[in-house]
Amino acid sequence: MARPSKGLSTRAVHGGESRQKPFHAVTNPVVQTATYVFRDSQERIDYESAPEDREEYGRYGNPTMAVAERKIAELEGGEEAALFSSGMNAFTSVLLAMLSSGAHVIVMDECYRRSRQFCRQILPRYGIDVSFVETNNYEQLEQTITKKTRLIISESPTNPYLNVIDMERITDIAKQHRVKVLIDGTFATPYNQRPLDFGIDLVLHSATKYLGGHNDLLAGAVVGNKMLISALREFRDITGGIVDPHCAYLLIRGMKTFALRMAQHNHNGMEIAHYLEKHPRIKQVYYPGLESHRNHDIARRQMSGFGGVVSFEVDGDMEATIRFIDQVKIPYIAPSLGGVESLIEQPAIMSFYEMTKEERLEIGIKDELVRFSVGIENAEDLIADLDQALGKI
Ligand SMILES: Cc1ncc(COP(=O)(O)O)c(C=O)c1O
Repeated sequence: MARPSKGLSTRAVHGGESRQKPFHAVTNPVVQTATYVFRDSQERIDYESAPEDREEYGRYGNPTMAVAERKIAELEGGEEAALFSSGMNAFTSVLLAMLSSGAHVIVMDECYRRSRQFCRQILPRYGIDVSFVETNNYEQLEQTITKKTRLIISESPTNPYLNVIDMERITDIAKQHRVKVLIDGTFATPYNQRPLDFGIDLVLHSATKYLGGHNDLLAGAVVGNKMLISALREFRDITGGIVDPHCAYLLIRGMKTFALRMAQHNHNGMEIAHYLEKHPRIKQVYYPGLESHRNHDIARRQMSGFGGVVSFEVDGDMEATIRFIDQVKIPYIAPSLGGVESLIEQPAIMSFYEMTKEERLEIGIKDELVRFSVGIENAEDLIADLDQALGKI
């Protein structure tokens, strides 16, 4: 894949935009309409042969979303991008659009809880066979491929332990067996990682996170070649998981400062990971930028920065961890990640609360695990805050 000619921050500001915009505005208009008018019947007939020149109906797209899609494609270095109403809508759409009854899909087992749930509970109801393999176990991956395997899916870095997939190995195996690979790169973003450069077929983002960046919108994006993305758009035309014009505007606006925000997230993530690693009340820190992380070598090879999510285990039990979380003053206690505001959560009482302790442990979620989405506040303030909170458990 050819390297983009402009730097990432230039692409974040100008990518996907026309230089001359309606009303001579510098910003992209929010084209807030549900449908689009044809002057006469001939114009409707002509539209069939040049559909890219205009819009027809709001479920099929809108001009504000089209700008956001082009910008994301440019950031990721892919031919095209398709936006969806959430990261999960993007994920479920890719799978349903690409797989038919009788097909087989392989999922690396450490992933977002809802992605796992969709693969485990919903896909089999439609005759799609799903195998989970241990994250980063390439021998097991290869042995699990069958003649019916169509797709291999993994996050990189994974949620919540930030394991990093070896993209060269996964694409080697996939190409030998003519299987496509989807990487959920939400945690890394195109600032830190470019899976398409390694031959990955599709990259998915919960744009709710770092691309939007302000904890104020829900969206999902898939980037890949024109053929795959066109098929996804056709699927979306039917299922309707579109991004409305106002949300697309917020996403464009959020992406203008993408590179600046990511530089600060990376800086803060590293500072906080180092601080926590030395703290006597912290048992273990999971951050791919740390030498102690089990995938540090792959991360260093493949990534240019390590992002703003730091996971760690408090040296204590469920209650001690609750006491710590309840003492922090700057991060908000909330699910999600990737916004300018720091968010902190204890997965055992947030996303995984409905499970028993045994069920949680089976997928590696300990009571004392904390996931910290480090925002863009000053690192020293965040560290002082963590310090006072850790002093009170
Ligand atoms: C890695 C990852 N992928 C996908 C999603 C789903 O994104 P959304 O919440 O936008 O549906 C999440 C949500 O937390 C996530 O962490």
